[in-house]
Order: sequence, then structure tokens, then C-alpha cells
Amino acid sequence: MKVLVATEKPFAAAAVEGIRKEIEGAGHELALLEKYTEKAQLLDAVKDADALIIRSDKADAEVLDAAAKLQIVVRAGAGFDNIDLAAATAHKVVAENTPGQNSNAVAELVMGMLVFAVRNFYNGKSGSELMGKKIGLLAFGNVGRNVARIAKGFGMEVYAYDAFCPKDVIEKGGAIAVDTQEALFETCDIVSLHIPATPETKQSINYALVNKMKKGGILVNTARKEVINEEELIKLLAEREDLKFVTDIKPDADEEFAKFEGRYFTTPKKMGAQTAEANINAGIAAAKQINAFFATGDTKFQVNK
Ligand code: 3PG
Repeated sequence: MKVLVATEKPFAAAAVEGIRKEIEGAGHELALLEKYTEKAQLLDAVKDADALIIRSDKADAEVLDAAAKLQIVVRAGAGFDNIDLAAATAHKVVAENTPGQNSNAVAELVMGMLVFAVRNFYNGKSGSELMGKKIGLLAFGNVGRNVARIAKGFGMEVYAYDAFCPKDVIEKGGAIAVDTQEALFETCDIVSLHIPATPETKQSINYALVNKMKKGGILVNTARKEVINEEELIKLLAEREDLKFVTDIKPDADEEFAKFEGRYFTTPKKMGAQTAEANINAGIAAAKQINAFFATGDTKFQVNK
């Protein structure tokens, strides 16, 4: 079988080697398409692929149409909003993710961005500390749980709201469960977003919600840009000079946000999962899932069921 790794933002070299070992060790062939700049390159490369490993690369209907032999696509990572699941199902392609494999990397970045924010983006002026502050996790999945673990080490009070996670699971994970997302924003000094981009969550982080934050509130986004209502957040930041917004996903309206100097920061390219460890974990998990699928038909991590 031919397994294509198509990554516009490549894995660390050690991860690619690990993937190669897994795939070739199982008797399959590995093809690499890294740092491609045109969709046409992807459309060409998928033509004869039986399996596909991607990161945030878009596996849309056009890609799935072009991939005539494709049986399985694995998103090496958590969020699979970049795969057209209906098109995958229509083509009888199994779509999978590798949940949890890169979550520590994202959680560590959250804390790094928070230290940066409370220390005024290292501008030399007196800042504040994270110890004793209340952090609210919007969703308590793999990333939220890791943030909770690390935030407790910083001496923070951890709160969480998750529409799908039972309260006792949140409490076992070391966080105080609140009843609504509104309550999370009202209670916490910092809110960190860990929700996926779904029809329900898109644009849900809006003026009314963020305006519930106390004076000096910080909003951290390492999830997806689509969950933010950018227009409304810009309006709010203009009205409330006490709020800060730090993000690992450059907003569409980056230039507008950049006007809030000293209160806004974005990484140039999403780098939450951009560590050797996360690449190795997620990449090798993806390779193993593909091997298991071809060996026994295993579809444990299928997301288009
Ligand atoms: C994920 O959903 O796993 C993260 O957003 C990482 O995305 P990336 O592989 O494009 O860095």
C-alpha cells in the first residue's frame, strides 16, 4: 500500500523517520509531500495513495475526489475540522484523528503565552503573576486536562466548563466544574479556549460572553480561529482597555487586532503542536493506525461513523 504524508507545515525530521519505520516496517511504501504551496501539488500526490496522513491540511471534497484509491485518511492531531467528513463517507474513506497525542505541547504553549501576557509581553514594566489567579478552561478534553495539570503547578485555581464532560470527571481532573460558559467567563481572570470548531461553537466567543470577564481579563485561544467572533471581539477590546487577547491562530482581522498594542499577541503560524515530541507522538500514532487498518480492518479512531 502507498501511504502519503502530506504536510504543508512539516513534521520534525525525527517524526518523519519514525513514521517511515512504522510504514515500511509493515511492508508499505511511504511518499512525502512537505511544504507544498499549491493545492494542485496535493491533488496530484493523492492520485495513487491508498492512505493519507495530514496535519491541518485540507482534505476537502476535491482532494477526496482526486484520491481514487484512498481507503483511509488520518489527521495526525486532534481537530478534524479540516476533513470533509461527508465527502470521506461518500467515497468510503475512513477518517481518523489521533486524540491526545499532541495535547501536552498545546497545554505548555498556553502557559508560555500566559506568562508572556501577564509580564506585559516582556516590555520591562512591572507585570503580575499566575499564582493565585483563576483560570477557566472552556472544554475539558485532552488539552484542557493538561492545562489543568500544569496550571495547578503554577498555583492557579482551575475552573472548567464542558457541555459534554460530566462534572465528576472535571473534578477528578483537578478543576472546579461550573454550570455554564457564562459562569466561567464571570468567575475567571483568564479563559483558555479548548473547544473544537463545530457549527455550534463557530463565532460563539462573542462580545457578550467575553465582556463578562473581570477587569484585567485575558482570553487565550489555542483552539481554532473560527470559534471567535472577530468583529465583536475587536469592538470589545476597543471599549475595554483592560482586556488582553493572546492567540496561537492568527485571526483573519490580525491587522485590526494589532492596533491593540500591548494587549494582543499572535504567533505567526500555529505552533501549539509544533514540537518534536508532539510530531513524533501524533505522526507515529497515525502510522500505527494505518498499519492496523490495513492489517486487521481496525477503525478504533474513526470519526466519520
Ligand atoms: C490539532 O488539532 O491537533 C492542533 O490544532 C494541531 O494542528 P497542527 O498539526 O496543524 O499543528
